[in-house]
Amino acid sequence: MAKIGLTWHGHACFSIDMGTKIIVDPFLNGNPLADIKPSQVKADVVVVTHAHSDHLGDAIEICKANSAELVTMVELAWSLSEKNDWLKAHDINISGSTTVKGVKISAVPAHHSSSFDGGSYAGPPMGVVIGNNFRIYHAGDTGIVKDMEVLGDYYKPQVSLLPIGGHYTMGPEEAAYATGMIRSRYTIPMHYNTFDKIKADPMLFSKLVKERGSSEVIVAQVGKELVFDEGGKRLE
Ligand code: NI
Ligand code: MN
Repeated sequence: MAKIGLTWHGHACFSIDMGTKIIVDPFLNGNPLADIKPSQVKADVVVVTHAHSDHLGDAIEICKANSAELVTMVELAWSLSEKNDWLKAHDINISGSTTVKGVKISAVPAHHSSSFDGGSYAGPPMGVVIGNNFRIYHAGDTGIVKDMEVLGDYYKPQVSLLPIGGHYTMGPEEAAYATGMIRSRYTIPMHYNTFDKIKADPMLFSKLVKERGSSEVIVAQVGKELVFDEGGKRLE
């Protein structure tokens, strides 16, 4: 059975190895938690949830260096394609999917904003569900929304990556509540302790989820790969 690897690089950046190598929200330059430099990334696909610089990050540089394809919200895809005529961008929108190098990627609602920092509107933000039999839900930046109940029921992700830093997104309490709607087997907190404004305790999140009995929290360590089998069970 094929194995799936998942590695946190701090903030909202994760590498996913499903045979096809995917990186989501590759904010590495300027990310104090990052364990790798953009030039060290090996990726076939780059996924960006919204235009804020702590998510768009080094996406263009990584696409160029790896000849990787970009998957993002339609307005952002078009805008980036206009500035980079070599870029192969998949322009999806909510409930839309694209299959890139054998991996299905679907856009799901996120309640947040999206603009080039301090500047122009870049379409709405999104979360994503990545994978075929084994599916990972990356929530992007979002508040708590009832849509999570629908996406949990419809896509049935085995692993959810949820922001817990508060201030710009859900905090530990909101994210713990959200796990009750999403109902994935495992939940990994992200988007916390990168900056002072988003300080949060992952152990509090873990405790709150345990009390609800809604998911199993894995507090990922930066740079340490988590391994799952295709059936959704954690191996390492
Ligand atoms: Ni944001
Ligand atoms: Mn953010």
